Amino acid sequence: MDILEKALEKSVQNESIETKKSESKASPQPSIESKQRTVKVDWNRLAVDGYLSREQLKSALIEEYRMIKRPLISNAFGKSAKGINRANLLLVTSSIPGEGKTFSAINLALSIANERDKNVLLIDADVAKPTLAKRLGIVESPGLIEYLESDDVDFSEICFKTDLPSLQVIPAGKRHAFSTELLSSDKMAKFVDELSQRYPDRIVIFDSPPLLAATQAEVLASLVGQVVFVISAETTMQSTVQDAIKKLESVDVVLALLNKSKHELNLDHYGYGQYGH
Ligand SMILES: Nc1ncnc2c1ncn2[C@@H]1O[C@H](COP(=O)(O)OP(=O)(O)O)[C@@H](O)[C@H]1O
Ligand SMILES: [Mg+2]
Repeated sequence: MDILEKALEKSVQNESIETKKSESKASPQPSIESKQRTVKVDWNRLAVDGYLSREQLKSALIEEYRMIKRPLISNAFGKSAKGINRANLLLVTSSIPGEGKTFSAINLALSIANERDKNVLLIDADVAKPTLAKRLGIVESPGLIEYLESDDVDFSEICFKTDLPSLQVIPAGKRHAFSTELLSSDKMAKFVDELSQRYPDRIVIFDSPPLLAATQAEVLASLVGQVVFVISAETTMQSTVQDAIKKLESVDVVLALLNKSKHELNLDHYGYGQYGH
């Protein structure tokens, strides 16, 4: 039985159970570095909410994230990257809201940003319910949506440096009635191509809407090389997970990440699986 099947088995099988409601090295272009703003992330607050603390990251990195990021990094930069289109672009998604996409996207970003020689650009692409940038202390700011909508918005206006030199963040920006169209636009395709090609040592992580809520997540999945599929293992029904995973058939690599507990983070609570197409 492959690991994905095991993950599915661990998800809720009883249909009657109610579904849970729920470039440090560089700014993108050296010339704009001076224009970029820097956000001071409240690491203590994140740690209180159960995110990885800076101390944990500095010491032995939590094993779960190590296990997940190893194959992701090796797919992005190693020999296996050759067969994968835009292997350094990752989408973190799930079937339904509240399964831990934003939680996992931030932790994964922190974990990879603490690797030597790796830079991470974290993009809040949950344009319907953006929470990622706020979690990192960015309150009101133009973001991905404004960049896609207007030719007058410069990359430097939407991309924040953080006090972790290897981590940059792009917020989602304002709500937009045609966000799906913007995400499917030629401008978005060009943007992700540039993101994928500009820096050889950079991983771009998109925090996504859930797959079963709207079409945006599917659109985003078609733009990236790897998907981290978060499963709230004890609460999401197996049939729900299966419906969602069908929408990822065109993605080169899908890793399943079991996020089981809201309050605990330990080895048993995570696993990963991979299948290629
Ligand atoms: N493993 C976990 N440990 C502690 N808190 C978690 C964990 N996974 C999710 N959470 C918390 O549960 C809530 C929902 O998670 P979130 O990442 O926002 O879900 P999603 O982005 O999939 O809608 C958030 O408050 C988040 O901080
Ligand atoms: Mg979220």
